[in-house]
Parts: sequence; structure tokens; C-alpha cells
Amino acid sequence: MALIQLNNVKRTFDVKGKQIRAVDDVTLAVEKGDIYGIVGYSGAGKSTLVRLLNGLELPTDGEVVVDGENISALSKKGLRDFRKNIGMIFQHFNLLWSRTVSENIQFPLELSGMKKAERVRRAEELMQLVGLEGRGDAYPSQLSGGQKQRVGIARALANNPKILLCDEATSALDPQTTDEVLDLLLDINQQLDLTIVLITHEMNVIRKICNKVAVMELGKVVEEGSVAEVFRNPQQEVTKRFVQQDLKPSEDPAEVLTEFIKENPNGTLLTLTFKDDNANEPVISQAIRQYDVDVNVVYGNIRQGKEGSFGTLTVLLTGDATAIRQATAFFSAQEVGVEVLHHG
Ligand SMILES: Nc1ncnc2c1ncn2[C@@H]1O[C@H](COP(=O)(O)OP(=O)(O)OP(=O)(O)O)[C@@H](O)[C@H]1O
Ligand SMILES: [Mg+2]
Repeated sequence: MALIQLNNVKRTFDVKGKQIRAVDDVTLAVEKGDIYGIVGYSGAGKSTLVRLLNGLELPTDGEVVVDGENISALSKKGLRDFRKNIGMIFQHFNLLWSRTVSENIQFPLELSGMKKAERVRRAEELMQLVGLEGRGDAYPSQLSGGQKQRVGIARALANNPKILLCDEATSALDPQTTDEVLDLLLDINQQLDLTIVLITHEMNVIRKICNKVAVMELGKVVEEGSVAEVFRNPQQEVTKRFVQQDLKPSEDPAEVLTEFIKENPNGTLLTLTFKDDNANEPVISQAIRQYDVDVNVVYGNIRQGKEGSFGTLTVLLTGDATAIRQATAFFSAQEVGVEVLHHG
């Protein structure tokens, strides 16, 4: 049984007599150890969905089963105890500004009745884990955004939860700091065998640390799968837009290519999309060995992710017409997407 299982879950809100379907018939499974990403535009229902996982929202219909517990069946006390197994971090950190870093981290431990000396020791341990050694006496206002989120993470981990929920946890951070916090999340996922459910509107966050992804639109999960599958072969329009937003090249390829064709009118220009990780190099060298063609890389747009590399490579093939035709057919036969941009 999956660690988190949602079956036909709905959550509607009644706003002035109008029903808003924030989460609309969602079924999904998160396995132990997953870093499960949920991506969608504003209003898609992402926050409502994660709040259903720790019982901050209860489903209007369907079941939410987390670690064997059906959330709707828990008593008030049962729900309070259950929540200790789930940590959560937020976009704006939600720290207590009048408390020091150490006191912020100790806060959930106080609530669970841990003795002071033990709390202080546990906070030290957690500060070490998140890279905040020696900052225990600082106040949140004296920290950078990345450090504030590290406090949020340490506090969320204080009670040794099995699951960490992240609601846009890096959306207020600059790209460099985002990467550092993502590295930390990946690290604790592996070190503590912690399952992470992360929501974001940034596909690069998904690519960098998630192994699975669900795409939400208007309360529904419209596409779901392994990150490698979804990045290499997105099905829905909204998913294609998200993937393209991430894989978008930093310069305009059309300009580079027009220039290139002018200078090399006799070649055939192809854009290759690799469906398998790291297939690019062997496939290209095999083509060169088997057929009498030259392959020149004109333009590459490859991004690295936790689950492999994604993107495209634009190459110029030169040689006689038959060899070029054979090499092109060879690429197609190797599970490589082939688009001919120009025939010399
Ligand atoms: N407590 C509530 N009462 C009424 N409507 C709500 C409530 N919570 C959420 N909604 C509505 O449900 C829909 C989904 O909201 P939700 O906050 O889950 O979206 P989101 O994907 O997290 O968006 P964002 O990216 O902006 O955070 C929205 O239309 C929102 O207005
Ligand atoms: Mg939200």
C-alpha cells in the first residue's frame, strides 16, 4: 500500500451559494521515499490538495489514506497525533519573529511536551542538519531568505515526521538560493528516508529534485507519471507549456539557425529529441560510424534533472544524399524524435 493514497477525492467550497471545486476527483499514490511534485497555475487547487494530506482540510467526498490512516475517520485527538508525522514548510516561512532560531525550532517540541534540555539538544542537532550551526541565538529578521527557510525545514523535522509537505517553499527565493534549498531537501530525503510532497508553479523545481510529478488544472490531476516520462513526452497542453517554460533556450534558436543555414546551404539540419537518458552520445557516434556522414552539433538545449537529462540537440548532417537519408532513418529507429529543419 502506498504511503499516501487519494481515492476520488473532492473538496468543494461554498462561496456565497456558489460551489467552488478546489479539488475535483483526484486519485493518486505517493510511495515511501518519493519526492512527489505537484505543479499547476495559480488557483489549480494545489494548496488545497496538500492541506488534505495533513487533515487541515477534510475531503467533501472520497478518501485520503496516509500511512494507513483514513483521515476522515480520525477523532480530534487522533488527528492531532497524526499531524506529528507530517511536517510542513511554506513560501513565507511562517516563523515566530520574536523568537530566536533555536526557539523557533523548539516550538513544536514544546507543544509535544519535551523537556527543555532535551529540546535544546534536539534543536542543535537539527541546526547542524540544515546548515545553521552557530546561528541558534539569531532572530529571523537577521537571516537571509534561504536561512529562514532552513529554520522552517528544521522546525518541520523536529518531531521526526515521515512526510514533509512543501507549499511553494522556494517561490520567494532567488535562483541560487532555490538551488541550495532544493539540494538540502534532496539530502534529507535520502538521509532520513523522508517522503516529500512538494507543490510549485516552477517546472525547474520538479526537474531538479522530484522523481514523480502530477499536473493540476481546475482541481483535476490532468497528467501524472515519472518526471523522466513527463518531461520527455508531455501529453496535455498545460504540461507541454510547463515543460517548454523550463526547457526554453536562453537565446533565440531561429536566429542562430537562419545564420547557420546561410553559411552551410548543403547540409541537412535536424533537431533530435532523446527519449532515453544519455542516449545522445552513443546514437550520434553510431550514426557517424555506420553511415558516411559528418555530424556537427549546431545547437544544444539540454537541461540536467534528478531523473536524467532532457532537451534537444540540433545537428547538421553532411555527406551524400543516401547516407543522410539512412542516418536520419537510423535516428528515428533509435527512439529519437527527429524534426527536419532544412534540407540542403
Ligand atoms: N477556504 C476557502 N474558501 C473558499 N474558496 C477557497 C478556499 N481555499 C481555496 N479556495 C478556492 O479553491 C481554488 C483552489 O485554491 P488553491 O489555493 O488550492 O490553489 P493553488 O493551486 O494553491 O493556487 P496558488 O498557486 O495561487 O497558491 C481557488 O479557486 C480558491 O479560490
Ligand atoms: Mg497555493
